[in-house]
Amino acid sequence: MRSLLTDMLLQRLSAHTQGPLHRRLYDCIRLAILEGVIGAGSRLPPTRDLAGALSLSRNTVSTAYEQLLAEGYTFTRAGSGTFVTDHMPDGAMAPVNEQPPASRRLAENEFSQRGAHLLAKTGASPHQWGAFMPGVPDVSNFPHGLWRRIHSRLIRRIKPDYLTYSRMGGSPDLQQALVDYLRVARSVNCEAQQIIITEGTHQAVDLLAKMLCNPGDRAWIEEPCYWGLRNVLTVNSVEVVPVTVDNQGISLPDVPAEGDAPRLICVTPSHQYPTGAVMSLTRRQRLLALAQECGAWVVEDDYDSEFRYSGNPIPALQSLTPQAPVIYIGTFSKTLYPGLRISYMVLPLALAEQMRVAHAELYRGGHWITQLVLAQFIAEGHYASHIRRMRLLYGKRRTVLSRLILQHLGEDALRDDSNAGLHLVMSLPEEVDDERLARDAGRQGIYVRPLSTYYLTSERKKGLLLGYACVDEAAIEPAFSVLMACLARQTGAGAF
Ligand SMILES: Cc1ncc(COP(=O)(O)O)c(C=O)c1O
Repeated sequence: MRSLLTDMLLQRLSAHTQGPLHRRLYDCIRLAILEGVIGAGSRLPPTRDLAGALSLSRNTVSTAYEQLLAEGYTFTRAGSGTFVTDHMPDGAMAPVNEQPPASRRLAENEFSQRGAHLLAKTGASPHQWGAFMPGVPDVSNFPHGLWRRIHSRLIRRIKPDYLTYSRMGGSPDLQQALVDYLRVARSVNCEAQQIIITEGTHQAVDLLAKMLCNPGDRAWIEEPCYWGLRNVLTVNSVEVVPVTVDNQGISLPDVPAEGDAPRLICVTPSHQYPTGAVMSLTRRQRLLALAQECGAWVVEDDYDSEFRYSGNPIPALQSLTPQAPVIYIGTFSKTLYPGLRISYMVLPLALAEQMRVAHAELYRGGHWITQLVLAQFIAEGHYASHIRRMRLLYGKRRTVLSRLILQHLGEDALRDDSNAGLHLVMSLPEEVDDERLARDAGRQGIYVRPLSTYYLTSERKKGLLLGYACVDEAAIEPAFSVLMACLARQTGAGAF
């Protein structure tokens, strides 16, 4: 029986020539598990099948399987076979002693300095679902039926254009649907030609960094800040300068001297990521004035503002004054699902045309059909009603989680009173090691992010980001109890 897995194991076995055969097979399977090629929960092929496919004795395969089982990479279920575990054993990421089976060994400076820096500062998690993964919407509620119906209707009258590279910064239908939606939902006034559809906010920022910044130019970023923004800027050789955030949002310094002026000022005014602060009107006005004065562009990342559970929506910074030097970025990752990879930028008219050309040159753009379906989905009102439905659901989940935090740790642990978004910050005392706590929780199947890792300077606050949007209401309390048990192991009893 040949499969992609057995083909890969055959290739790797032939390149890995040192040591007994069962040990080499063990190395290859272990590496495939660590790389995620064999995912958590997947069943390994039965020993007889794998032995046949690799032309090995069944004994060799059984010995390799036994070693993986003994070290905690797999578990067995009576009568069902051998499965890859969810939780990697301690030290699993340690390098194997033997020569790696890869055919080429990497030189010390194989990666560019930018690349090496990126690899040293990664933030993307292999876990993208479950309690309490921050920023993940409840994708299990996506209205596939509606989507499928629009899609079927569309491809009945398909045109060659739909299957070619996209031009003009994306589908004009989607651009127009966004113009109408943004005017009502976010007070953003723009024309279709100002909109570029991008594959995620990351691509939007990548384009801005490449087109508006020279290597060494500065971007002011919020402190703390979303790690993804930081990484995309840094990999483009933009120097990121952290600017402290308080409960009114970014706390701007005086106008800098000419040589120190930023090219970009990146902010999350409606719901600061990750603290939840809403930028005050005074700060907004000052930000726009400062940007004008030093010739900077303000990049407004409006990633989850659709989810406010009380009070009025907070209008976008872009809408504050006509001709504001603001590049507005929105995403469907939180309102629909992250894997859709559709976001958009609203550019000032002066930039729009050349940026559309650059976008087509750099990324070519595609997914025209998906963009058309999305345009219809918005125009027919399904988008707004999906958001309304999810807002109700997430609001209840947030209430449950807030109550638990207050109940177990008191008011000091819950400083985020924005009542918005998809996550909460649970503050912790300085002496708690939030990174260790997050690792410990991860081993118990609870995924959280340590607040301290969102800071660049030493003024790091301790806490955990807890996402509630993708956790059923009934599952919140049991998951929270596991987290509290991890915290108790670190602090003795209560945290405060
Ligand atoms: C603050 C913030 N901005 C942007 C994004 C990413 O958005 P996209 O999926 O559109 O790249 C995230 C993702 O978690 C985020 O937290």
